[in-house]
Amino acid sequence: MAEQIVTDPILIASDHAGFELKERLEKRLRELGYDVADLGTESADSADYADYAHPLAQKVSNGEATRGVLLCGTGLGMSYVANRYPRVRAAVAWSPEIAELARRHNDANVLALPARFLSEEQAMQIVSTWLDTPFEGGRHERRVEKIERSVAPRLDAARVDKPRESTETR
Ligand code: RB5
Repeated sequence: MAEQIVTDPILIASDHAGFELKERLEKRLRELGYDVADLGTESADSADYADYAHPLAQKVSNGEATRGVLLCGTGLGMSYVANRYPRVRAAVAWSPEIAELARRHNDANVLALPARFLSEEQAMQIVSTWLDTPFEGGRHERRVEKIERSVAPRLDAARVDKPRESTETR
């Protein structure tokens, strides 16, 4: 693992489907020197993902934390909830390559892991990559900024915008 980019506590939360992996990742991250704040769940008993995604996303949204990891069976329910919060960019990542691009291009501040489809090693590689990769900025900064714009101006713009030539390739 490279020099730590993240120094404030990493929030972590799961439902029952992600509980076991959450516990393992938390332990591994602590061993690596990260400060981890566990927002639950506390057991493998059935739990609703939204009850755990809301508090974590709220903290990232209001700036109390800069990074959060959410785990559920597919990562999808957690990401749906988290992405309803302003300034939260939750990426479902199932490979280190997706995690890297989620940081470089999308400045993902929340990672949603599909716990039922990942081994501990795979999950740890994804989390490490996500933690170690900086945001690239540049053209991606403009794109990320547009995420927070309301839908109405975007629809208006779509009506008048013509396809434009671009030298950007990606
Ligand atoms: C729980 O069975 C499962 O539906 C949940 O963990 C998650 O995958 C939802 O998105």
